[in-house]
Amino acid sequence: MKNLAAILLAAGKGTRMKSNIPKVLHDVAGRPMLFYPLDVLEEIKAGRVVVVVGFCADRVRKEAGGGKNIRFVDQAEQLGTGHAVMTATKALKGFVGDVLILSGDVPLISASTVRALIKMHRKGGKARPAITMVTTVLSDPYGYGRIVRDAKGAVISIVEEKDCAPLQREIEEVNAGIYLVSSAFLNANIKKLGKLNAQGEYYLTDLVKMAAGLGERVTALTHIYPGEVMGVNNRAELARAGRIMRERVAERLMDSGVTLIDPAATYIDHGVRVGPDTIIYPGARISGKTVIGAGCVVEDGAVIVDCEVGDGSVIKSYTVMESSRIGAGASIGPLARLRPGNVIGDRARIGNFVEVKNSIMGAKAKAGHLSYIGDTTVGEDVNIGAGTVTCNYDGFKKHRTIIEDGAFIGSDSQLVAPVTVGKGAYVGSGTTVTKDVPPGALVVSRAGERVIEGWVKKRKAKSGGK
Ligand code: UD1
Ligand code: CA
Repeated sequence: MKNLAAILLAAGKGTRMKSNIPKVLHDVAGRPMLFYPLDVLEEIKAGRVVVVVGFCADRVRKEAGGGKNIRFVDQAEQLGTGHAVMTATKALKGFVGDVLILSGDVPLISASTVRALIKMHRKGGKARPAITMVTTVLSDPYGYGRIVRDAKGAVISIVEEKDCAPLQREIEEVNAGIYLVSSAFLNANIKKLGKLNAQGEYYLTDLVKMAAGLGERVTALTHIYPGEVMGVNNRAELARAGRIMRERVAERLMDSGVTLIDPAATYIDHGVRVGPDTIIYPGARISGKTVIGAGCVVEDGAVIVDCEVGDGSVIKSYTVMESSRIGAGASIGPLARLRPGNVIGDRARIGNFVEVKNSIMGAKAKAGHLSYIGDTTVGEDVNIGAGTVTCNYDGFKKHRTIIEDGAFIGSDSQLVAPVTVGKGAYVGSGTTVTKDVPPGALVVSRAGERVIEGWVKKRKAKSGGK
């Protein structure tokens, strides 16, 4: 967008969060709060972006990433939103146009509302207002700056909660903390802000009164959906923002053909992709860079982090999986655990109480029950019996197990790595495999079985019948 620069306020500590983490880095639907306004700025293609950092500046800088048009300025002492903008204008020297000001703690603002704000501001052509701002009406306006209008309805000032006279406190129209200000007005007036107020801070909001006093026009984009402009100042608001963001994610997914049995009870983070005709049950938590294919089923309580799941696969109840790739038509769980680094083939099956880590499972390979498969390469059509354990760690190093195509691992076997079970080989139940098994061979290591007839009776006689 032409002649547009932006300032993002992100220097505050967020005292009301009672946290050691800067407020703008708290998680909202899987991303730090700050991610969202930055995303909006990218979407509307703001030219220069100045991010004001202060509390834990390095961390915030790192999380904000380094978009090529982003500049960070340090507000070493956080003396208020007005002071933050004052600090930022230094990085906008020579810029002529409109300056969009966003707050890092208003994460739900949409690009379309910002576009509407810009459109409204620019409608007047040359006679555009000095400031256009976003407001909304709240039945409980507590904590927000109140919009004071004159008899004709023109905005003449913003009064902060702590500075409100009793009647002003009744005003339900509030400031969202999102503004478009002409660079000329901003540069001429930002340094004139004072701090004679209840908090002893430089209030950005005082620019409005200043503009009105100078006979400049202030306009407002009003009645914006409150959920979009809510500020996050405490943990309760953080939870609310997360819920609203997840609601949006859910709506988008449902629009694209995904069935969510109960969207409010399903936790899908921003950025997760899901194909059409996939059904997701309540209590599922899907996050990170997860991509789920079409026609899948994700059952209750599944936790899926940074995974890829192919079309038609089923992730059954209470499975926990991270950083793994699952093929098409596979079945995982219930109660399976996939730790990072797995590639599970098409139509493979991983059953209950099976833990798999850093392993490859070929197509149609099965591990149905109670197994540990770590650092293992499993071929196609392999059957791994209940209770099989790959002993991948010798106390010093991790080693790999290789199970070739079509092999059969009997229940309760241990495969002591490094070891290879050849193509089509059989491992008898209860075997401890320490040496490579050639293709097509049978390996059994059980001690010979003894049956002693009448043993129980004799034993009882010895111990006096007890
Ligand atoms: C601000 C507005 C209020 C509005 C509300 C909307 C002022 C004086 N008040 O109040 O009218 O209704 O937002 O959410 O502007 N920040 C800095 N440096 C500072 C102080 C703050 O960068 O010195 C940043 C914070 O990190 C935050 C944003 O500015 O992202 C807003 O600051 P905050 O203290 O939360 O302002 P509010 O009291 O919510
Ligand atoms: Ca705030």
